[in-house]
Amino acid sequence: DEDAAGRKQAVLGIIGGSGLYDLPGLDNARWEGVESPWGEASDEILFAEIDGLPVRFLPRHGRGHRLAPGDINYRANIDALKRAGVTDLVSFSACGSLREDYPPGQFVLVDQFIDQTRDRERSFFGAGCVAHVSMADPVSPTLVTLLREAMAQEQVDASESGTYVVIDGPQFSSRAESRLYRSWGCDVIGMTNMPEAKLAREAELAYATVAMVTDYDCWHDTHDAVDVAGVLAVMKRNTEQAKRVIRRLGSTFPREHPPCPEADQALDVAIVTA
Ligand code: ADE
Repeated sequence: DEDAAGRKQAVLGIIGGSGLYDLPGLDNARWEGVESPWGEASDEILFAEIDGLPVRFLPRHGRGHRLAPGDINYRANIDALKRAGVTDLVSFSACGSLREDYPPGQFVLVDQFIDQTRDRERSFFGAGCVAHVSMADPVSPTLVTLLREAMAQEQVDASESGTYVVIDGPQFSSRAESRLYRSWGCDVIGMTNMPEAKLAREAELAYATVAMVTDYDCWHDTHDAVDVAGVLAVMKRNTEQAKRVIRRLGSTFPREHPPCPEADQALDVAIVTA
């Protein structure tokens, strides 16, 4: 969808995590199924506009939270969003905190991931076409800057960086695991951003993650170990803030896709097969 000068209209994709299943009140909104050869996406995609900017929203767990982290078809989700025209993808995820100074309610602009997942389909490639994309810098700095500005305008405090360790779940971690991830320098923990970030890179989508802290996992001496009740108690407020940030981001987002060399040219140097 480039014009003669190589300009590409921006289409903002949003993946909603736990608590974020809908974006009510957007212009020209309609839910539409998008077929993918990779199987079923988590749900239909909400096609809508914010101040004329095309926006495509997909609830990662499906409306009604039907899908556990390990049951999500990450390939179908990324493929469906790509087919829906998305150029820039922002993922919102509830997470646990591995740092004292990231309390529940804190938003973290993730810049690195550690992938501890095992049993998930994690590539569009293989079987006849081999590719190795770079994941050195998995997140688009431009998207992070735009998110940071939108958050500042909405008075939502966000830390500038963070390493997100992704576990399979669905169980939460043991205390030994939680301490181990802290010793690795991880800042937040969740179950869903891998292989999502890897697949976004393979699909040449600019990608960023807003991790929204709901709990202190189970390493903390003076906070109870995480449970669902505790997560839900914090999630509602986080979700309200996320919705405000999304509206602001949509209204301020460049109408032309902001170049992201890591994503835009990811496949130029990745394919090995003749
Ligand atoms: N999602 C929210 N809190 C979490 C935690 N402590 N561990 C993994 N995923 C989470």
